[in-house]
Amino acid sequence: MGDTDTHIFPTYKRWDLTFDHAKGDTITTKEGHDYLDFMSGIGTVNMGHSHPDIVAAVEKQVQKGWHASNFFHYEEQERVASLLAEATGLDFVFYGNSGSEANEAAIKLARKATGKESVVSFTQSFHGRTYGSLAATGQSKIQEGFDPLPSGFTYAPYNEVDELAKYVDDQTAAIILEVIQGEGGVVPGERGFLKQTEALAKQHGALLIIDEVQTGMGRTGSPFSFQKYGLTPDIVTVAKGLGNGFPVSAMIGSTHLKAHFGPGSHGTTFGGNPLAMAAVEATLHVLNTPYFLEDIHEKSQQAFQLLNEELRGLDDVVDIRGDGLMIGIACKGPVAPILTNLQAKGLLALPAGEKVIRLLPPLTISQDRLMIGLKIVVEAIKESAKTTASR
Ligand SMILES: Cc1ncc(COP(=O)(O)O)c(C=O)c1O
Repeated sequence: MGDTDTHIFPTYKRWDLTFDHAKGDTITTKEGHDYLDFMSGIGTVNMGHSHPDIVAAVEKQVQKGWHASNFFHYEEQERVASLLAEATGLDFVFYGNSGSEANEAAIKLARKATGKESVVSFTQSFHGRTYGSLAATGQSKIQEGFDPLPSGFTYAPYNEVDELAKYVDDQTAAIILEVIQGEGGVVPGERGFLKQTEALAKQHGALLIIDEVQTGMGRTGSPFSFQKYGLTPDIVTVAKGLGNGFPVSAMIGSTHLKAHFGPGSHGTTFGGNPLAMAAVEATLHVLNTPYFLEDIHEKSQQAFQLLNEELRGLDDVVDIRGDGLMIGIACKGPVAPILTNLQAKGLLALPAGEKVIRLLPPLTISQDRLMIGLKIVVEAIKESAKTTASR
């Protein structure tokens, strides 16, 4: 389909591929090609495409009814809220439909609950594209053209412990943090930096908001990545993998925030609709399957071992980083040609910024298929290195 045959705003630079259907780790296009999916719908379809239990749960709910409004109690919402509270160690949930909306809710709640205005975020962060979440996104190229943005946001340099204290003070309502920056280049936060962020938030009576939109729901090998560092956020935001690709998000907060999000304070028509809840409940059930997380851990170790053995030392590869099955391969030059080559070889992967290849295979992928995919990635990077060398 050419650029002139569409009535869709060209906000996305689309590939020459038309989706037809998907199952497990494979996407089949209208053109009749199968692709090994190492991007999981940008980190959403974590349990694999068309997971039978999740499909069955949604189908069942379709027959029962898909929307009645938040004037009703929904047993499905209550069950999912209990599961999310248990999974995060927090207490109350607000449902939305996207990661941006969850962060928007978190920022609003933080300002209302603290009575303070200032929100500290980090350079190269990504929190969404609605005005609040966009203002929290520390990347000027994403904010460009949309002024005036909401005021009160500042951006501390990520992973720079000594700089942090300059940004956080008693006027700070919240610090919003990704434990691993996803869109910003798959950059893991260092333990000391993460801990210091938490300590400063507590010291100044600021809320710690952890954005688990990309890192949550098992992606890094634990239900949520903050748990690996023993952090205790006041608010956690989740989307993407929450309903295995079904549009749904959650902002989960601690008890002391409840009074500030009373009737009429915030809302969204579709948030928590029963179809979404069916998807989330079934997805959480898969996440809680015995050995599910251990299996991710094992596959992750194999993946990093292979990539390190094959790629470390190559001139063109600067770093191999990430956690669980969120993997970044930082290269010296732009990775677009490598991603195009990967598609030609039947594998779909993503960039994170201009120079990082981001791999987000489904968490349910078999070890064999994971290794097959990684070998294709290695091959494409080596081919690119050869081309660069011969220039
Ligand atoms: C960490 C993080 N937060 C928020 C968002 C925004 O989510 P959505 O696109 O669902 O609004 C994203 C999307 O990539 C993300 O990676």
